[in-house]
Amino acid sequence: MKVMLIAGARPNFMKIAPILRELKTRAIHAQLVHTGQHYDFRMSESFFQDLGLGDPDFFLDVGSGSHAVQTARIMERFEPVLIEQKPDWVVVVGDVNSTLACALVASKLRAEIGCRIAHVEAGLRSHDWRMPEEVNRVLTDRLSDLLLTPSHDARDNLLREGMADDRIVFVGNVMIDTLFAHRERADALDMPARHDVAPRTYALVTLHRPSNVDDRAQVEVLLDILAGLAERMPVVFPMHPRTRNAIEAAGHDGKLDGIHTLEPLGYTEMLGLTANAAVVLTDSGGLQEETTALGVPCVTVREQTERPVTITEGTNRLAPWPLTRDGVLTAIAAAVAERNGRQRRPDGWDGRAAARIADALSTSRVSYV
Ligand code: UD1
Repeated sequence: MKVMLIAGARPNFMKIAPILRELKTRAIHAQLVHTGQHYDFRMSESFFQDLGLGDPDFFLDVGSGSHAVQTARIMERFEPVLIEQKPDWVVVVGDVNSTLACALVASKLRAEIGCRIAHVEAGLRSHDWRMPEEVNRVLTDRLSDLLLTPSHDARDNLLREGMADDRIVFVGNVMIDTLFAHRERADALDMPARHDVAPRTYALVTLHRPSNVDDRAQVEVLLDILAGLAERMPVVFPMHPRTRNAIEAAGHDGKLDGIHTLEPLGYTEMLGLTANAAVVLTDSGGLQEETTALGVPCVTVREQTERPVTITEGTNRLAPWPLTRDGVLTAIAAAVAERNGRQRRPDGWDGRAAARIADALSTSRVSYV
């Protein structure tokens, strides 16, 4: 069996790493394709180093662009690799443009080269079609032979969309495998001390969704919220390049006074800061899950979440919408007060998802065609 794994953007790398390791442990031939959707050292290479990924077997070097340009470029550059390598499985993860682009290429070549497509993190739905990730998720699931789900709600979503039950396999959350594997190393970094904050006294903030940072009015509201938060506790804010660009373009850099802004952090550094935060304020999907696994309160600045299990079983809550300074600050105070109050680690978030993924790839007979 030959398996080709696709990674392109920051949140892919921690999902791919344990799968690659598990396949290699089982002496299964695995190849890694990095599309290059993310390319800055801090968005890409530092994750390869941190996660022990080694060099990718194929690097497509696509870089940034509009959705159409980026997706098309990935497709053009992935197609010859796929034709030449003819893997048995193409494994795509998550919901970024690289996920859909490679699934689409593989789906058109499926019969010709005899490959099948597996989607890791299948079945998550925000039901918000304005999100590019929702488009990527729904279409990738539709194109995939094997739908590997991280939580039980995902199966219901897939069945509702008419997917055959035998294509769906519950494997749990593979990103939590990586979190457990790196927890000790993250603690050893002593990240709070490095940033002059005491454990459990600070808020950790990340923002990068286009709906939050590409909209000038929304950026202003968010910066106002951060200023209010900084009056109550230290605020540590590693900034995604999209966010830094948007804040600078809007001329709002001055509003970050009093906030401890940082360049994007490596995986273990970020884990060290997350595990010790009093509260996390974010619009990231991954952080909603990581805070639940760590038992750290999280307030999500989005209208809805495709990861409802982090609310029903974990430590996440949605900020009241539309966002207001008072609404978010009240939600943060409630989240901090409830720490340890309502947490159960969701089923399958146990550090063994990669083993279940490898089992599914090895035994599954399902085929779309
Ligand atoms: C992408 C994913 C998003 C994911 C996020 C995590 C899609 C549609 N979006 O969003 O789901 O949550 O990654 O980070 O796939 N840039 C750099 N350096 C880089 C990468 C990006 O400076 O290494 C800047 C560029 O200005 C670029 C912008 O960030 O245009 C956006 O990058 P892009 O990959 O298009 O989307 P993200 O916002 O990173």
